[in-house]
Amino acid sequence: MSEATSALPGPVPVGILDLAVATGHHVLDLDDLAAHNGVDPAKYHVGLGQDAFSVPAPDEDIVTMGAAAALPLIERHGVEGIRTVLFATESGVDQSKSAAVVAHGLLGLPSTVRAVELKQACYGGTAALVAALGIVARDPRERVLVIASDVARYDLDSAAEPTQGAGAVAFLVGAHPELVEIEPASGLFSADVDDFWRPNDRSTALVDGRLSVTAYVDALLGSWDDLAARGGPAPHEIDRWLHHQPFTKMALKAHRAWGKHAGAETSDDDLATGFTYNRRTGNSYTASVFLALAALLDLDDDLDGRRLALFSYGSGSVGELLTGIVKPGYRTLRRTDAGSVAATLDARTPIAVGDYRALHASHSGPGSASSLDRENPRVTTGPFRFAGVTGGARRYERTA
Ligand code: HMG
Repeated sequence: MSEATSALPGPVPVGILDLAVATGHHVLDLDDLAAHNGVDPAKYHVGLGQDAFSVPAPDEDIVTMGAAAALPLIERHGVEGIRTVLFATESGVDQSKSAAVVAHGLLGLPSTVRAVELKQACYGGTAALVAALGIVARDPRERVLVIASDVARYDLDSAAEPTQGAGAVAFLVGAHPELVEIEPASGLFSADVDDFWRPNDRSTALVDGRLSVTAYVDALLGSWDDLAARGGPAPHEIDRWLHHQPFTKMALKAHRAWGKHAGAETSDDDLATGFTYNRRTGNSYTASVFLALAALLDLDDDLDGRRLALFSYGSGSVGELLTGIVKPGYRTLRRTDAGSVAATLDARTPIAVGDYRALHASHSGPGSASSLDRENPRVTTGPFRFAGVTGGARRYERTA
């Protein structure tokens, strides 16, 4: 055995050390969308369980939101130990260069950091978490910065339109975590299904909504069975559930189905706290389940030593069910952010339906995905902006 290998510490607990949230500049109130679409607002608020969605400004995208989410983590913890940045997204801005490299530059990370982007629909953030756990288990001196950032965009006037959204969650994964220790067993379920996908020539997703709902439930039940077969906890040993939330009612439907399947009693109230932020941001794809985690850690004062189940679903499809134990003292750590997610959501600038529709339409023309040279208007008040395109390359800048 080489000297370097023999110097590695033995197995240690690994998990999430800290996490932070960012979202888009604008917010569209679903009451306004309901009025425009001639729909009873209760269909959105109760039927889908959504109140509003974030809309990125023309000088925002997954990179600016992701870097904005990661910035407080770097400010709080420094770059010590970070040797990997994983950027999970399904609304990537380049087919070759990873958003991780751009975020790496914006955040001023050292050159001794590997940077890569991961994709499998909404599951990408959890794939990044699992990869990060492996990297840290291999060398517990290392930390991994995970960024999950997405813009959910469907066709205007489609059934999926009210479930759009945008958001980013960044978290640091390391040894001896202060927030949540992730347990080793996980449940997996993959199946090739055309329930939701976005071909390379489209700025909006194609979706078979009904199929997607059943595919999601199948993945949860399959992941549960796999976790059980691998020695996972019994239903009564799970204190809180967090599900991927394309719209919060989806999580309720899936949770009820799990209850029947596992012979467990469930109540819709079990999930309400984890819905708090997602109801206001809309679907943030890879970030969604971690936004639910942020809400739970911020708003539930009785989590010391509690076991969480965290279910991630990515269309196409991959599901994974992880469990983790909340570390005592999480409240003190989250106090740094106390009120900050709510303040971020409150601070968004309302957008009128007409302006939102114009912004949406611009993405299928020379919009945010285009490589045409341009200067973007200065709109965002976030710490980073997508300034424009020069020679086909996207230019980003720090605003403050
Ligand atoms: P829809 O047209 O809104 O469906 O489309 P609906 O007419 O059945 O209405 C929805 C619910 O509103 C129903 O409740 C109605 O009863 C209720 P449910 O029967 O489902 O409990 N409703 C009302 N409630 C109160 N007051 C009223 C009222 N009217 C009706 N007045 C659909 C829904 C999900 C199909 C659509 O939103 C969609 O296509 N969404 C996008 C796909 C999606 O989010 N799928 C979820 C699973 S797939 C996933 O999670 C992955 C994803 O995040 C992508 C990725 O992985 O990358 C999407």
